[in-house]
Amino acid sequence: MIITTIKELRAYLDTQRKSGKTIGLVPTMGFLHEGHLSLIRRAKAENHIVVMSDFVNPTQFAPNEDFESYPRNIEHDEQLATDAGADVIFYPSVEEMYPNGSSTFVEAEGDITKVLCGASRPSHFKGVTTVVAMLFNIVQPQKAYFGQKDAQQAAVLIKMATDLHMNIELIVCPIVREEDGLAMSSRNTYLSANERAQAVILNQALVKAKTIFENGEHNVPNLIKTITDKITEMPLADIDYVSIYEYPSLKTIETVKEKALAAVAVRFGKTRLIDNIILEK
Ligand code: PAF
Repeated sequence: MIITTIKELRAYLDTQRKSGKTIGLVPTMGFLHEGHLSLIRRAKAENHIVVMSDFVNPTQFAPNEDFESYPRNIEHDEQLATDAGADVIFYPSVEEMYPNGSSTFVEAEGDITKVLCGASRPSHFKGVTTVVAMLFNIVQPQKAYFGQKDAQQAAVLIKMATDLHMNIELIVCPIVREEDGLAMSSRNTYLSANERAQAVILNQALVKAKTIFENGEHNVPNLIKTITDKITEMPLADIDYVSIYEYPSLKTIETVKEKALAAVAVRFGKTRLIDNIILEK
């Protein structure tokens, strides 16, 4: 069932809550793939009612980014989400979420939003925290589900929920990959055949770093060099960043002490892809 207004969604969820039902939220920007469906299935296994939001959020795109061209297909999304167990697809308009005069934002400050994608996309996380805070207020779920592919986003949202004392459990689910290792993403559809073939290098480079890490290489610059060298084997790969930070704090480290995030952002033509792997002792 698709619901497009906040009023109608609240009325439906109030009725469900009164009959003792628990609610899980899966926020998405639509154009669903297996990664999203894994979140919906997990949410359905852990809650009575699953709300999947399907909203391409303008405030997390910079003016030069792909907001207008971001792929959309609500009919396809409705079918896939319903089959995976979503009870409601919340599909609001931009005006419904940001009515005229809306001027309040939620922003996590500090390293966590300044490094990695925050460095290349300075306004991005402010848009993400704002829209997710709105969705939390609208849906008031017990649990909300996010993908590890957006590891920094997950860390930022956990920080927001903790700092603002939100009574919601955030669950971060594993990255879902294509058979050749490419992390699933709605943006993979932008890739040409040649770019798609070369994009497998991201996962290969991260797995190589994890292997040498597990064999005792804990020095961050050396691990970064391994990943960078591997990615640059592909002529179409244009590196935005290759970084390793303590996880989930995203503090700078020289040596991996306990748990770190190795993350990459690489352009293939016009498409910017991200991927990551956790290094844990
Ligand atoms: O990960 C996404 O698709 C988006 O950033 C999110 C969390 C749905 C907020 O718009």
